[in-house]
Amino acid sequence: MYFSSLLAAAVATAPLAVYAKGQLGYALGSRMPDGSCKAQADYAADLVVLKDTATIVRTYANVDAGDTSGPLCYVPGALLPAAEAAGVKVILGIWADTNEAFDADAAQFFEYAAQYESTIYAVTVGSESLYRNQEDSSTGLTAQALLNQIQKFNDQLQSNGLAGKFKVGTADSWNKYQDGTADPIITSGAVDILLVNAFGYWQGQLISNATATYLDDLQQAYGHIQDVAGSTTSIELWNGETGWPTDGGTNYGAAIAGTANAFTFYKQGVCAALDWNFNVFYFEAFDEPWKPESTGADGQPGNEIHWGAYNADRSPKFSDYSCTYTSS
Ligand SMILES: *[C@@H]1O[C@H](CO)[C@@H](O)[C@H](O)[C@H]1NC(C)=O
Repeated sequence: MYFSSLLAAAVATAPLAVYAKGQLGYALGSRMPDGSCKAQADYAADLVVLKDTATIVRTYANVDAGDTSGPLCYVPGALLPAAEAAGVKVILGIWADTNEAFDADAAQFFEYAAQYESTIYAVTVGSESLYRNQEDSSTGLTAQALLNQIQKFNDQLQSNGLAGKFKVGTADSWNKYQDGTADPIITSGAVDILLVNAFGYWQGQLISNATATYLDDLQQAYGHIQDVAGSTTSIELWNGETGWPTDGGTNYGAAIAGTANAFTFYKQGVCAALDWNFNVFYFEAFDEPWKPESTGADGQPGNEIHWGAYNADRSPKFSDYSCTYTSS
């Protein structure tokens, strides 16, 4: 009902509208609301909802330990068949910070890679490894250590006869690209794709300035990467995460959580980025109520439970997920 009225509205305005040019994807968790692991049917139900706007999803680890108190979730064997059936692409993640995690994730990848070659859009080795290392040098990875893990994965692709079959890269915070930390990776020739995370929210911005900050951060990161690479085309760039917490979420500086603000950010920030031909991953698809309370970067208690574009039961939070623009 809800979606058919949207469709009717879209059809009614079709002669005036052009559709967004970038691709929209979602960061997709591997757990059910109770913390158990999603099975293939659960991912299939997720994708029925997400397919309405998205062409792709991304995950973070192939063997996902979550907060470590729950079960290990084995992602590719459950997600890839569901994604293939839905016609949705996947960027799989290899957790790179420890060799144990890397090895477990790589083993899962190679179990499914050949069978699902056309569904796996890319592989990210590491997620915010550089950012975490800067915050606390006992965590994350230096650029050289992360590059070593990326090169190790490329070597494994080669030895498995899969060299050149998958785009390989990493994901990190926009400022780790903009400030030169990632330069050794950008210039290495080892990456085909880089995911740049950028949040007006984590910059502590008022919602009224969040879109300007988000787009400015993305442009600074992209500009630096393209300068250092000496090319605008040699490395494919995606906004790897953006989003805004909804009702029940935690405030951060002047950034106030709430569904109305999240909807504003989606319609202004995400839709603008897509219109500018940026590919965007929204963080995240569904609320994850199993996640424990945590401490935010400002030392305040916080949580990452309420970042979904959709509720944990897959019902919509926003009244409209479309990004359409009136041609001028
Ligand atoms: C608004 O965002 C712009 C772009 O990031 C930034 O330069 C400016 O300082 C921000 N304004 C405030 C009041 O924070």
